[in-house]
Amino acid sequence: MTSAHNGSTENGAVSDKITVDNALDNVDVTQFAIHDMRAHARAIAQGNTVVVFDTTLRDGEQSPGATLNTQEKLDIAQQLARLGVDIMEAGFPAASPGDLEAVKMIANSIGRRVRLDRDGKVAAPPIVAGLARANKNDIDKAWEAVQGAVRPRIHTFLATSDIHMEHKLRMSRDDVLETVGDMVQYASSLCQDVEFSPEDAGRSDPDFLVQVLEIAIKAGATTLNIPDTVGYTTPEEYGGLIKHLRDNVPGGKDVIFSLHCHNDLGLATANTLAGVKAGARQIEVTINGIGERAGNTSLEETVMALYTRKPVFSLETNIVTTEIHRTSDMVSRYTGIVIQPNKAIVGANAFAHEAGIHQDGMLKHKRTYEIMDASAIGLNQSTLVLGKHSGRNALRAKLEGMGYHLNAEELKDVFKRFKDLADKKKTVTDADIEALVGDEIYQPVETWELIKLQVQCGNNVIPTAVVTLHNNKTGEEITEAGFGTGPVDAVYKGINRIIQVENTLVEFLVQAVTEGIDANGDVTIRLEVPDSRGYSQTAQGRPRRRLFSGRGVDTDIITASAKAYMQALNKMLSTVDNESSSVNIAADTAVLAPAVS
Ligand code: KIV
Ligand code: ZN
Repeated sequence: MTSAHNGSTENGAVSDKITVDNALDNVDVTQFAIHDMRAHARAIAQGNTVVVFDTTLRDGEQSPGATLNTQEKLDIAQQLARLGVDIMEAGFPAASPGDLEAVKMIANSIGRRVRLDRDGKVAAPPIVAGLARANKNDIDKAWEAVQGAVRPRIHTFLATSDIHMEHKLRMSRDDVLETVGDMVQYASSLCQDVEFSPEDAGRSDPDFLVQVLEIAIKAGATTLNIPDTVGYTTPEEYGGLIKHLRDNVPGGKDVIFSLHCHNDLGLATANTLAGVKAGARQIEVTINGIGERAGNTSLEETVMALYTRKPVFSLETNIVTTEIHRTSDMVSRYTGIVIQPNKAIVGANAFAHEAGIHQDGMLKHKRTYEIMDASAIGLNQSTLVLGKHSGRNALRAKLEGMGYHLNAEELKDVFKRFKDLADKKKTVTDADIEALVGDEIYQPVETWELIKLQVQCGNNVIPTAVVTLHNNKTGEEITEAGFGTGPVDAVYKGINRIIQVENTLVEFLVQAVTEGIDANGDVTIRLEVPDSRGYSQTAQGRPRRRLFSGRGVDTDIITASAKAYMQALNKMLSTVDNESSSVNIAADTAVLAPAVS
């Protein structure tokens, strides 16, 4: 199955089904290679454009349950390119051969394709970055993964806070200074675009940071990223730290200072904006703010703050803001991380006005209660409502108006589901259509497919389900029955009897897509693999609980629940299969942790 927007195929190659993208294929992409990295960095450092470094596919993917397969990563990367991100951190190549392969595919496809900017002009492909700990093995792997991009970047990091150096790295300050110099120089010998991050900078001694960063610049880094790794700082502190570093690091005014904030105290966006005010010109962000623990700074919040409060910041970004809503929806569907309704910018209620007094004000003058237009983030404003008499062309026009350019096969599938829905519901809203498209298009490779489902439940009966599944690899079709404490439990037991892969259901959420008794039900679930195969580590060496999410939409919530379960199981099967050959990261971490000399 291919994505609505990107034209990428199952094996990761990027196909040519979108006319506008085809036209761009004839543009010579090599003209966008950066020849003088120092001059490029200086121009950004001293200009008025804040470059957006998206780390949804790396820090975002470290969120529990956000496991993405290669196809999903490619789809998201393509959508991030459309969104206009300047740099995408495509992953942590040393984590496993699968991670390396995914980054390589992104570098060789999206990293080599021109795109259109928000004025419709041809623009450079995004810089594709790979994360590496400060050791040769990681740096080699990162370079192997990103070198196919027209604009490759190696992002290497080493912790600089006393607590990390003493307890995690067991390195002295001198050891750290030496390693930073050696490893940044090594990365620079491979790739002219090198970013260095002193991990836990937010809790590091600012004067030690000045020393570290001076060495990193001398060794070839042109972007210095200042992570508030544990989300500890306040906006005044973080902005003050950026100013201190820009003022005191020799050569600091000629390199790009970058901001990377975690949201443990809910201050990530505020801290990032304070850093921008203090002169940083790169922001490291994720879609929907996903990421380790409480997440990272959210792209949509920061970009829309810069956009909506232009007189306060007097800065631009290259983001195509009308792609924000769609990107947010895609990331939420693929990761299974549901967006809280009151989330700024992309939450379901962000543009809803419930209170009578607000509605009255809105009718008199939109700006009484709305500081930005929903259309600015690509939320559809059209009043064209579809119903059961609407034909395929009306649906296609509607979808195109919403930004979905489906191929004939995808349109056929979505139209069939639209007709089924329109038979049950009087009017089919934009939200229903978004849900249908997402449910149809954003699917993992299916090993097992749900063919038939029959459920008996009610008062004084034992909930019973009969399930038929088809195995797309072997061609076999199997029917089994399950009994449970309720209808969903019965269905899941029936499915388990067929697929026979151990898993624990750790989360189950049902939501209505729209209001009313005939609403589509939208079910999101998470599964955990109960043995070590399901566990891995983050770039920082923390154990990562590996959860697999699934989402299903249907007017029948039992069917939606079955679809969600099948999606999560299919993801789990393909990921665990791919991982059997992954490297042992725990052993690898030893490179970073020599005994104190
Ligand atoms: O939060 C952090 O410190 C990081 C670094 C690897 C940049 O994600
Ligand atoms: Zn981080």
